[in-house]
Formats: sequence, structure tokens, C-alpha cells
Amino acid sequence: MNTRVLTGITTTGTPHLGNYVGAIRPAVAASRRGDVDAFFFLADYHALIKSDDAARIERSRLEIAATWLAAGLDPQRVTFYRQSDIPEIPELTWFLTCIASKGMLNRAHAYKAAVDKNIAAGEDPDAGVSAGLYMYPVLMAADILAFDAHQVPVGRDQIQHIEMARDLGQRFNHLHGNEFFVLPEALIEEQVATLPGLDGRKMSKSYDNTIPLFAGGAKQLREAILRIVTDSRAPGEPKDPDDSALFTIFRAFAGEAETAAFRQALLEGLGWGEAKQALYERIEAEVAPMRERYEALIADPAAIEAILRQGAQKARAIATPKVAALREVLGLRAMTTAPARAGGPKVAPKPGKLPRFASFRDTDGRFRFRLFSADGQELLLSKPFAEPKLAGALQKRLGTSGAAAVALQVRPLSVGLELDGEEVASTPDYRDGPARDEALAQLRAALDQLAAQD
Ligand code: TRP
Repeated sequence: MNTRVLTGITTTGTPHLGNYVGAIRPAVAASRRGDVDAFFFLADYHALIKSDDAARIERSRLEIAATWLAAGLDPQRVTFYRQSDIPEIPELTWFLTCIASKGMLNRAHAYKAAVDKNIAAGEDPDAGVSAGLYMYPVLMAADILAFDAHQVPVGRDQIQHIEMARDLGQRFNHLHGNEFFVLPEALIEEQVATLPGLDGRKMSKSYDNTIPLFAGGAKQLREAILRIVTDSRAPGEPKDPDDSALFTIFRAFAGEAETAAFRQALLEGLGWGEAKQALYERIEAEVAPMRERYEALIADPAAIEAILRQGAQKARAIATPKVAALREVLGLRAMTTAPARAGGPKVAPKPGKLPRFASFRDTDGRFRFRLFSADGQELLLSKPFAEPKLAGALQKRLGTSGAAAVALQVRPLSVGLELDGEEVASTPDYRDGPARDEALAQLRAALDQLAAQD
């Protein structure tokens, strides 16, 4: 199966050169790989959290869609859609909201930063914080989990959100005793340098130091490049390429030989004015053909609309059955169909053949127990307890809970059993993954069998 790679772009701004180099160009390149199924979407529900400027959001959606398409995204090949065209996303958001712990959301960086700022200013901690901002990570988790994405290319600031998506997916899987969701991983592109802006700091709208990608055409591109801050060395004086935002930007657009030649020219005293002209020409060579496509697309919103609707259809072909299955699992099913049995199918107990617990005392005097399968194989070893009562209580709980009620943490060669977020027992180490999986199936069956006894 191909790796499913998914990412969203919040539609509040106009793409600049930093977005292009840092996100758009690498993502479009990755989407052409044969072993990748790429999903890109306009995160316009997320945009509502950041902005109530409808005209801005509307314009940004159009600009971002046109930019990605102009940069070479092939909508036949990738699934390219708008978040707000997928009603399954807000539906799944609610399912995940109901299992998201408030404490986890309290720890989300964006929310915490807002609270810290309020506190520093002597305001109410939650002043000006919308519930939308608070729920941001859950909506993002739904974006990802609805499509079973394996990898999510994001900036470092988003890693925590991916971890929360994993956490929510895992919690749901464990609560309902099945692998309903793929657990996603953040994909951080180490090689992609962040592009410096006009003042040498990271290029970002919030620093007001950006160079436009398409907006304003070649003229504004050139004007912005002329405003890049340089030192005051005169033509003829050697320049330090490694201390120059201009050189760093050049390198992001040039091949090795061209970069080496530019470096040499700066060392030999190329004037900043000429260097800027060279940079402008280098960027314009890459951007001009895209700009032409961009302008044609912007002039034809109906074409973009049609592409996005087709994308939504492709995306919903995955999300609709997925969310329908979740509705069943959660008890939101039609009353005319068979009722769900809590915890899924139970293994029918065979009389006289039951898994059993065996308690013992550790060499250091603490109390533990093992769980054996009906045919005598060791399935679990509990953690040690200071008191036999505590070991007994855990035994009782494991004997009645059923597999769906415990969290099973699958490790490379063993499986840990968690209750209330704490590991309380573990399987032995197995020789390989398949052996571990077989033991895991036995463990599940044994827990269900015990639970079916009473
Ligand atoms: N929060 C992301 C950002 O600001 C945008 C986003 C929304 C996203 N949903 C997503 C990214 C899902 C990856 C996957 O950059």
C-alpha cells in the first residue's frame, strides 16, 4: 500500500516566497512520487478560528488553490479539496471531542500562549480566547484521522498537534477495541531550509518581511528584492555569503554550480545592486511560467471550483464510509438493524477450558500474577504490588473487563496492558512481530472469554 501523506493549508493569507520554498515546492515534488498518495486541502474551517474577515478568507482560498495548481499540483493524481466540503470532518471532530481530555487541550501550545499572554497583561486568563481556538487540535486530528493518513508534513510548530491526533486516534481505537484509525506521524523536512525574509529573520507574514510569490507580478517581486537588507560594503569589497539573507534566498532557487559561482562573485566583491539583479533574474526564471498559469487560474474561478468539487468527491469516497462505520460503533445506528454487543464479538467460552490467573510472590516479597491461556501459555505478567489486595483487585478487573476496555500498547516484540493510562501488565517478549500479533489475538480472546464468564 502506498504511503498516504496529508496536509492542510490554513486559508488566511496570500502565499509568499517562503511558503513556496518551505511547503509548496517540496509538497508538490513529493506528490509526484509513485509510492505516495497525497492529500492536500484548504483548511478553511481552521481559517475561521483565526479570522472573521469573510472577504479575506474567500480571496485566500482562491489564491492558495490557484498557487498550488500553478506550482504543478496535479489534481488527477492527488486528492485536492476544501475542508468545508467534507461534512464528515466536523462530525468526526465531535466524536473526537467527546474523548479528548480537557487537560490535553489545556496544554496545547497555541492556547497556552494566549493564556500566558493574558496573564502577563493582568487580564483574565481566557480573555479573547474562543472555544474554536481551544478546539483547534481536535479539528486538525479529525482532518488527519478521517483519511487514515500515515504521514503529515508540517512545520515544527505543528508537531504537538500531530501527537494529539495520534493520542485521540489511539484512545478511540482502544476504547472500541479495534484499529479504526491509522496513527499518523509528523513529517518534518529537515533539508528544506526556512527562507529568510527581507530583514534576515524567517520570512513570515507576522514579521512583515515577505517577498510576494505572484501578487503584484514581476514588478513587485523585483521591488521586494531591492529591499532585502544587506551590509554597507561597497562594490569591490568582498562580501560574506554565509552572513547574507540574499545569498540564502539565491541558494534556494539555484543549482549547485550556479550557487558556487554566485558565492565566488560575492567573495570577489560583486556589488549588492548587481547581486540583487542576479537574484531577481534567478527567481523570475522559476516563477514566471507559474505566474502565467496562476493568473489564468485566478481569472477562471469556475475551473478551480470544479477541481475542488471533484477533489471533495474523491475525499468523501473515503470519509463517508469511514464515519458511517464509526457511527455504528458509537451506537448511532438505525434502530432496525441488529444492536451492537458492547465490546464487540465475544469468544464463546468452552466449558472446562478457561484462561486462568496464577498469583505468586516475587523474590523481593512483592505480589504479582500471571495470566495463562486455556492451554497453559503465559499471556501476561502483572507489575509487582506491595499488597496482595491490590494485585487481587487488578486480577478481578482484568477478569471482568473484556479486551475492549483495556488499552493494549503494541511494542516491537511485546504488548503492554494499560488501565487508566498506566501500564499494569505486560506480555513476555516474542521472537518477532507475527508471534507478537498471534499472542495479542490470544490475549484479547482470553480477556473476552473471562469477561463472558460472569
Ligand atoms: N494547522 C495547520 C497549520 O496552521 C494547518 C492544518 C489544518 C493542517 N489541518 C491540518 C496541517 C491537518 C496538517 C494536517 O499549518
